[in-house]
Amino acid sequence: MTAADDDGHGFAQYPLENVHRLLEPGPVVLVSTFDGQRANLMTNGFNMPVAHGALIALVLGPWDHSYDTLRATGECVVAIPSIDLAARVVDVGNTSGRETDKWRSFDFTPVPGAVVRAPLVRECFANIECTVADDRLVRDHHLWILEAERAWFDATRRGAGEFHHRGDGTFSANASTVDLRDRMTKWRHLTAD
Ligand SMILES: Cc1cc2nc3c(=O)[nH]c(=O)nc-3n(C[C@H](O)[C@H](O)[C@H](O)COP(=O)(O)O)c2cc1C
Repeated sequence: MTAADDDGHGFAQYPLENVHRLLEPGPVVLVSTFDGQRANLMTNGFNMPVAHGALIALVLGPWDHSYDTLRATGECVVAIPSIDLAARVVDVGNTSGRETDKWRSFDFTPVPGAVVRAPLVRECFANIECTVADDRLVRDHHLWILEAERAWFDATRRGAGEFHHRGDGTFSANASTVDLRDRMTKWRHLTAD
């Protein structure tokens, strides 16, 4: 830390262009789409819940083939992989469905969902079938608001759980969890299973 950085409060300045790294570590997810002929997968690290219940936001941009499909169909599946799948999930994010069948190349298994035509990812411990609820921020920010229509969970595959992109190609895994449900006095309804 240089003197110019230190305002006397003990913090070093953090580069603004890297601020996303401080907030990014939600779970890395796979987004499955189906264009009417072929199913595709992309890797997504910019995502968040928007409302209790079923609204999800994710950034998915026109550099992705999946963008065109999401725009055309208004549907996708958000699948949550566990840490043991991390290397394959990164590989999915380094290739495009324009030229590669990523299901085959990276050994993921498509299985039919119930509501949308995009397939679930069998290897993931959770799959959320989504429709586009609001695309008003897509043009400016590539930010899609999705509504979960059906969600699927396989507790046997959760294992060590989801993993998180720290924004720079390093990933953190969930280590131990801290159970503070007793202290969530104002939000008791959130702590039920
Ligand atoms: C760890 C990781 C996280 C990524 N996060 C995002 C993201 O949040 N939004 C996005 O549009 N692309 C993201 N990407 C890039 C896409 O996954 C990548 O462009 C992918 O090849 C798109 O595939 P497609 O062309 O088949 O749709 C990420 C890639 C990696 C490796």
